[in-house]
Amino acid sequence: MKGVILAGGRGTRLYPLTKVTNKHLLPVGKEPMIFNPVKQLIFAGITDIMVVTGKEHMGEIVRLLGSGRDFGCDFTFKVQEEPLGIANALLLAENFARGEKIVVILGDNIATHSIKKYVDRFRQQKEGARVLLRKVEDPERFGIAALDELKIVEIEEKPLYPKSQYAVIGIYMYDEKVFDIIRQIRPNAHGEYEITPVNNFYISLNQLYYDLLEGEWTDAGTFESLAYANRIMLEIDNKIIVSED
Ligand code: DAU
Repeated sequence: MKGVILAGGRGTRLYPLTKVTNKHLLPVGKEPMIFNPVKQLIFAGITDIMVVTGKEHMGEIVRLLGSGRDFGCDFTFKVQEEPLGIANALLLAENFARGEKIVVILGDNIATHSIKKYVDRFRQQKEGARVLLRKVEDPERFGIAALDELKIVEIEEKPLYPKSQYAVIGIYMYDEKVFDIIRQIRPNAHGEYEITPVNNFYISLNQLYYDLLEGEWTDAGTFESLAYANRIMLEIDNKIIVSED
């Protein structure tokens, strides 16, 4: 299994903090934001990791992360020419994945507890995809899952009238079909290839599974969520919590 961290995008919601640097390099607690997804993958036993980012800040990302030696992993870097969406960034990992399953983390998603147990369930899963859900107070900011007793029926991206409070967070697990699926989706009105249609495609195949994420989680793409991410990471000294079960 391989890991992919998506760290491109414009970061415009955090301007001017992101005027001269990449959002994922901003401090969260005592470390740069991107350290959390890197450590999440390593704690889950994934040490072959591709980092995708725009060309403006690739130099700084490489300078920070290096080869991976200091983390005990192996980094591969890939440039997304234009921020054309999460699915567009993920497509760049196709050759890297070489037909293996992948765990994808959005570089601005910060979680206190290890995702290892969910990744282990995905390892056991024969095929399909797995997403992680989290109850949120502001569902109009996220991809929101409509659920029946057992499964996700539909995901809506940033709905005006959310059907639930369960956000699909930015940690996604996919089998090798994902790249063919991405090639079939259409861009949104802003020309961006979103990840939600990809997950909905897996629903149509009856192959989208989910877990509820334990611990604290936030994205860090707005001033409020960045401040919250900072607090939760300071509280745990940026050390990911591994629970027993
Ligand atoms: O945080 C979870 C949410 O992330 C999900 O609930 C949504 O379904 C999903 O669409 C996404 O929403 P955001 O509005 O937060 O996505 P954003 O455009 O901020 O991008 C999130 C990360 O994805 C960003 O930190 C870097 C990466 N990214 C994004 C774009 C648009 C790229 O690498 N390349 C891109 O072109």
